[in-house]
Amino acid sequence: MAIKEIVSSGYSVYVGNLSQGNLNQKLKSDRYESVSKFILVDENTLEKCLPKLMVAIPALSNAEIIEIESGEINKNIDVCSQIWRVLSELQADRKSLLINLGGGVIGDMGGFAASTYKRGIDFINVPTTLLSQVDASVGGKLGIDLDSLKNQVGLINNPEGVYVDPDFLSTLESDQLRSGYAEIIKHALINSGDYWEKVKTTSPNTINDYSDLIDTSVNIKNEVVKEDPREFGLRKILNFGHTVGHAIEGYEMEKGIAPLLHGEAIAVGMICEAYMSVKRNILSEKDLEEINTYILSIYPPYEMKQQTYPQLMTYMRNDKKNSDGKINFTLIEGIGKAIWDQDCSEEEIIDGLNYYKSLVK
Ligand SMILES: NC(=O)c1ccc[n+]([C@@H]2O[C@H](COP(=O)([O-])OP(=O)(O)OC[C@H]3O[C@@H](n4cnc5c(N)ncnc54)[C@H](O)[C@@H]3O)[C@@H](O)[C@H]2O)c1
Ligand SMILES: [Zn+2]
Repeated sequence: MAIKEIVSSGYSVYVGNLSQGNLNQKLKSDRYESVSKFILVDENTLEKCLPKLMVAIPALSNAEIIEIESGEINKNIDVCSQIWRVLSELQADRKSLLINLGGGVIGDMGGFAASTYKRGIDFINVPTTLLSQVDASVGGKLGIDLDSLKNQVGLINNPEGVYVDPDFLSTLESDQLRSGYAEIIKHALINSGDYWEKVKTTSPNTINDYSDLIDTSVNIKNEVVKEDPREFGLRKILNFGHTVGHAIEGYEMEKGIAPLLHGEAIAVGMICEAYMSVKRNILSEKDLEEINTYILSIYPPYEMKQQTYPQLMTYMRNDKKNSDGKINFTLIEGIGKAIWDQDCSEEEIIDGLNYYKSLVK
C-alpha cells in the first residue's frame, strides 16, 4: 500500500511501510544529517522493533540506543531523569534528535523528555502498538504519571513527524492488539456510521492488514483534534466510554491482581455509556444491541460487582474532565455522532453499570 500522509497541525502522520516513506530522506536532510540521534526503546521494542527500524532506515545506523524498562509503572519522573541523564552524558545538544520507538509509554515519556531537555529538542515518534498508532499518534499530548495519577505532569507539543508502520503489529501480543482496537471501535461509534459498518464485520485477531483501519482512525482523531486542540468542546467526544472505563481501569489497577488493559476497560465503558444514551432516548435499542453483541464477541466479560460501585463513583467524580461537582459524559446520538458535557446523575450511571452486569452474568 502506498504511504498515506495525514496532515495534522504542524506535523504529519505517515501510515505505511517505513522503508517506503520519507523518514530516511528526512534524516539525511541538512537539518538532521550531522546531528546526534538517539532512539528510545524498552526491552520489547529493542528486541522486536529496533532490528526492523535499522533495516528500513539506514540513516539511523550511528544512533545511540537508550533503553528503559517497559510498562506504565515506568512512565515516571525517575525514568525520565534517567533519559535526561543519558542524553546529557552522551552530550546531546539542542540540535539532537530523539526517535521514540515503542508504545504509548515510550511516545508520551520520550516526547516529554525531549520537549524539556535543554528547553526542547526535536523528536519523532514511531509507534509500535495499535493503541499508540491509532490514538497517541495524534494530538501532541505528552507526559508522565505522578504516583498513581495518570498523565499528571506533561504538556502538548508536536513531534517532527509520526511514522506508523502497521507491520510492527505482527509481534504484538493479542491482548495488546485487542486493547488498541477499542479505540477503533470508539472512533466509529462517535464519528462515522460507515466506518462502524466496516468495523463490525471484522475482529482484531483476524485482520491481516491494519493499514486502512489505522488510516481511517488517525484521520478521524486528527479532524477532531485540529478543530479543538485544547479540548474545550468537540475533542471531548474522544472520551466516549472513558468515564466509566477509566474508573474501572483505575479501580482494577489499585487492586493490582490482574489489572485490565486500557481498551478492555473502555470496552466495558462503551457498553455502559451506550446504554445511558438509550435511556436518554438518543440511541435506539437496536443499535445498542448491535454494539453489545459486537463488543462482547471481542472482549472477555468483566465481572462487575455492586459492592464496588461506591469506589467507581469516587473515581468518576475525581475525573480530570469534570467541573462544578458534575460527572460529565460523552454519549452517542445514534451510531456515528457523539455529544459531550452530558451531566449524568448517579442513578443513570448505576443503571449503566447494572446493565453491563446483567449482560455478562
Ligand atoms: N498521548 C496520547 O494522546 C495518548 C493516547 C492514548 C494512550 N496514551 C498513553 O499510552 C500508554 C499506553 O500505550 P500502550 O498501550 O502502547 O502501552 P505500552 O507502551 O506500555 O506498550 C504495551 C506493551 O507492548 C510492548 N510492545 C510495544 N510494541 C510492541 C511490538 N511491536 N511487539 C511486541 N511488543 C510490543 C511494550 O514493550 C509493552 O510491554 C499509556 O501511558 C497512555 O496514557 C497516550
Ligand atoms: Zn483511550
